Amino acid sequence: MKSILAAATRLMPLAFLLMAVVFVAQFMLQHGPSVGALDHYVVKLSELLNRHAWIIAILAAVFCITSFAGYFHERRRNAGVHVAKTGVIMDILDRLTNRQALEGKLAKEPEAVFIDSEQLAQALKSRVIGQDAVCDDMAAQIRRRLALKQRGKPVGVFMLAGPPGTGKTYLAKCLAAELQRKLLHFDMTQFSAGAHAATQLFGTSKGYMGSDSYGKLTAALRDTPDAVVLLDEIEKAHSEVQKNFLTAWNDGFITEASDGQQISTSSAIFVLTTNAATDTLQALQAAHANDPDELRRVCTNALRESGFAPEVLNRIDRIFVFKPLSGLDIARVTALEIELMIQGYGLAIVEGGIDPDILLEMMRRQKKLGAASSTRDLVRAAEESIADTLIEAKQRGYAKVAVVSRNGSIVARPER
Ligand SMILES: Nc1ncnc2c1ncn2[C@@H]1O[C@H](COP(=O)(O)OP(=O)(O)O)[C@@H](O)[C@H]1O
Ligand SMILES: [Mg+2]
Repeated sequence: MKSILAAATRLMPLAFLLMAVVFVAQFMLQHGPSVGALDHYVVKLSELLNRHAWIIAILAAVFCITSFAGYFHERRRNAGVHVAKTGVIMDILDRLTNRQALEGKLAKEPEAVFIDSEQLAQALKSRVIGQDAVCDDMAAQIRRRLALKQRGKPVGVFMLAGPPGTGKTYLAKCLAAELQRKLLHFDMTQFSAGAHAATQLFGTSKGYMGSDSYGKLTAALRDTPDAVVLLDEIEKAHSEVQKNFLTAWNDGFITEASDGQQISTSSAIFVLTTNAATDTLQALQAAHANDPDELRRVCTNALRESGFAPEVLNRIDRIFVFKPLSGLDIARVTALEIELMIQGYGLAIVEGGIDPDILLEMMRRQKKLGAASSTRDLVRAAEESIADTLIEAKQRGYAKVAVVSRNGSIVARPER
């Protein structure tokens, strides 16, 4: 087809010449002066034209159409060459490849970004209490990995391990906030039932119920590819669900099951949290504090023994071990959680408003219950007793309260 069009273009001048001859002949016959000997040929040509008027009209039309098609084809073909000479190469890409697809893929390539790790570490430490070493390490890792611009891999796959209620989930939230990235929070306990649970995250294959809706993870990463993906309590997810993340971490994409679309994970940060192997990890952390490579190896072994698949552990860039909270840090976290709970009722705590005895009692209880319990559980228990007085204060139009002990139970006292 292309060669026919090219040939037609070359015939175009001839077509115009023939049309001109016909036009001049007709014109001369009707209005033109006599040109002696030529009159005879003019009349003959005119008779020929009249006799085969339809055929000639069709031939002329076909000629015109192919000539014009050839002309435009040639113009398009030359466009890239012309533009290339002027130094703009994108039109050549239009001609020789799929420019839009190329641009799309280029946009998904991670850019090297430089952040101030000192500033990030400070910001994290000011929010996450008692985990300074983790915050420093996390900030340094993020800085290095953002600047490294790895092809086809997420910015990082980080495992936060440690006792419950020590700030693992909270650190992931703070990290997203400080980096001004969207947090995609998945509670992995929801995916414990079996491999099929993964359809919620990655979509449903065609032909099955629900195949018209995207998976929660694929849809969210398609919209915000640079999100912080928090896989909270990853050890609770079925091992097949965990393995579904391997392409995300190894190859830099996930596949949406409903339409097979590949969605890039190369700008995302994956944060996994786990309460598994807490005691062993603590001991290992203390024993190998000065040898990060050895620490990583022994921590990986401990997590493998607690049930993680080796291929999942192999893809984790760094394991951060959280310390159990101790001393006044327990009081700090407890006070913060009480504040958060009260804010949930639309109230604030008046300055210095938490009775120290309440915090002391909670610290004692926490110590007695050990690492398996978190301050969160204690504050939840406190909420049971304080809730009514909070609602009452709110109803009476107060904006602030103090948290005090009355007849052995915790209550809110309205404050001006
Ligand atoms: N180290 C900490 N610093 C500040 N707040 C904390 C810390 N640990 C826990 N908290 C508070 O307790 C809540 C629950 O902690 P969380 O991060 O969910 O614990 P984990 O994920 O380690 O079980 C957080 O939302 C936060 O308010
Ligand atoms: Mg958590």
